[in-house]
Amino acid sequence: MQKIRKAVFPVAGLGTRFLPATKAMPKEMLPVVDRPLIQYVVEEAREAGIEHFIFVTGRNKSVIEDHFDRQFELELTLAERGKKSDLELLGRDLPGPGTTSFTRQQTPLGLGHAVWCARELVGHEPFALLLPDVLVQAKKGCLAQMIEAYLAIGEAANLIAVEEIAPDLAHMYGVVGVGKRKKQAFEITTMVEKPPRGTAPSNRIITGRYILQPEIFDMLAAQERGAGGEIQITDAMIRLSQRQPFYGLEFEGRTFDCGSKLGFLSANVAYALARDDIAPDFRAELKRLTGER
Ligand code: UTP
Repeated sequence: MQKIRKAVFPVAGLGTRFLPATKAMPKEMLPVVDRPLIQYVVEEAREAGIEHFIFVTGRNKSVIEDHFDRQFELELTLAERGKKSDLELLGRDLPGPGTTSFTRQQTPLGLGHAVWCARELVGHEPFALLLPDVLVQAKKGCLAQMIEAYLAIGEAANLIAVEEIAPDLAHMYGVVGVGKRKKQAFEITTMVEKPPRGTAPSNRIITGRYILQPEIFDMLAAQERGAGGEIQITDAMIRLSQRQPFYGLEFEGRTFDCGSKLGFLSANVAYALARDDIAPDFRAELKRLTGER
């Protein structure tokens, strides 16, 4: 079994649901409490043992590259002012030298296309794919849970994080069919992107964390457009599933779709309530705002 060493972070989308906030600033830099979304997801990958972080960026996204670099002026000023803990924080969050790569998706043709843009950087090995606008709040990171499950399956398969939702919402998501269990995971029998109401094969949806075999790039190379005229990763996975096994993992944790306003606001509340330094005052403030006693 080849180790999962590399992770791909597609960050080239337009983030139209957050306009005008995302006119000049990438959606992935929106903060949840005091860290940008992308930081949480990179941490999750690092915690899972990922050694190389590959970002597929686009125009207006150079700030993401800067975020994962040192900021000498700031560091100097903090040092002069004796702000040791802030300095330590900046150092802790920094990926090691040579562990990041950045490539560009020149036109945002869809998530599948963004992943395909990383093909040369990934090479011929299985890799993790993490969507930075999906946060998973969990004791053990979602990707770490997935890598454990992947190793337990013990074959060169593809593994997708899935979660259960109310059946009447399934038509809004990528949905998988549930087959036999294998260790912590289950065989995926079918995948459908946004099935018409009442036709979904289950209420398990694809949530933004994947372990994929490199053959996915062969499928993506066809550059076929799917839903919304975009090159979709789900379509490529459906094609690959005819040649390779796919498994689903119901991970432990709570997901926030930070690409939507509601998910983003909920994430801010949940992450603030999980922080010892903020939670007591924040809880009291929330009660005041909602009129609760
Ligand atoms: P979304 O589906 O949320 O699209 O992308 P989006 O363009 O960012 O946002 P909306 O729908 O217009 O509000 C999921 C992830 O895939 C990346 C995005 O940056 C986001 O992290 N993505 C999407 C790309 O990198 N390229 C694309 O062409 C599309």
